[in-house]
Amino acid sequence: MTLFDVYPLFPFELTKAEGCYVWDENGNKYLDLYGGHAVISIGHTHPHYVKSITDQLNKIGFYSNSVQIPIQKELAQKLGALTGGYEDYSLFLCNSGAEANENALKLASFHTGRKKIIAFSKSFHGRTSAVVAATDDKSIIAPVNETSNIIFVPFNDEAALEVVMNDQIAGVIVEGLQGVGGVQVPTDSFLQKIRSLCDKFGALMIMDEIQSGYGRSGKFFSHQHSNVKADIISMAKGMGNGFPIGGIIIAPHIEPKHGMLGTTFGGNHLACAAAIAVCDIIKQENLMHNAAEVGTYLMVELKKISAIKDVRGYGLMIGVELDNYADVRKKLMIDHKILTGVSGKQNTIRLLPPLNITKSEADHFLKAFAEVVN
Ligand SMILES: Cc1ncc(COP(=O)(O)O)c(C=O)c1O
Repeated sequence: MTLFDVYPLFPFELTKAEGCYVWDENGNKYLDLYGGHAVISIGHTHPHYVKSITDQLNKIGFYSNSVQIPIQKELAQKLGALTGGYEDYSLFLCNSGAEANENALKLASFHTGRKKIIAFSKSFHGRTSAVVAATDDKSIIAPVNETSNIIFVPFNDEAALEVVMNDQIAGVIVEGLQGVGGVQVPTDSFLQKIRSLCDKFGALMIMDEIQSGYGRSGKFFSHQHSNVKADIISMAKGMGNGFPIGGIIIAPHIEPKHGMLGTTFGGNHLACAAAIAVCDIIKQENLMHNAAEVGTYLMVELKKISAIKDVRGYGLMIGVELDNYADVRKKLMIDHKILTGVSGKQNTIRLLPPLNITKSEADHFLKAFAEVVN
């Protein structure tokens, strides 16, 4: 059997990882400013994380949601405490970002009894049924995923949103910071407009914080920079630092019912042990503060480089737009052993490092970057 060939791959494998670094099979050491696609939040192979998962595996690794799983409650409590404002929400656990968003849309539809969802240009919400339809990329929407239930509106366009909003809309889904779309920042007033229109028409505001959440923006959720509160917030990526786990947190006014949502693997013991360790480390090591501090430093310094067309983002989710982005990214990887992410359609390099990156690691990148672009 061979692998179904759907991924363009870097020309190496990784055999070791620690903190902000990964090593390939030839012993080359890379500074990881990609974090396996924004997934590595607390750093690779953090000792407390490794121990928590190992200890849990030695007790019980998995049982389905048919028995009491107290560590789910521990996770909900620790996650709630980290969110700074969402302590009274409840948590539904699943396994990935797409699944989290799928459940968010489903819940909005169940709750309102409505079918229509508003999504935005340049959005990415995942590759499964309703969420791929809400993703602004026709090339990944299969005929079976096509639906007239999704209405697209230009991102950050309040007037256009106002025109389509009505009492048929179940929910509005928007990324805290658009990731695949090239790190596009929603304006404060755009998010506040979504909030007020959802309130006016009885729709739910759904924040997709799968990439921009979990402290990456310098606040726990990126939309907290805009002083709004959502009804449902989806998360995944940084939540398990690589262990597959996702979830949605749900406002108290949305009532659960047995059987309404469900999953076999979601919230299993091992995944919860990983996610609890992530919460502990974010808190103990003050990683949100570090994300804000090092992220701001990176953005300020990057803005001084004249070859760069634009620098966008919050904290450690940074988009660097430049004409020859592909070349620069390749040179960073091959000549300087620095991994970065990309949003090809937006000519943008994406920086998504672990949240414990140090200022000296940031300086190492800035020096290499200046050398490559000049
Ligand atoms: C904003 C956003 N939403 C949803 C997803 C889908 O997550 P997953 O790949 O875990 O299904 C992603 C993945 O890149 C994402 O960036």
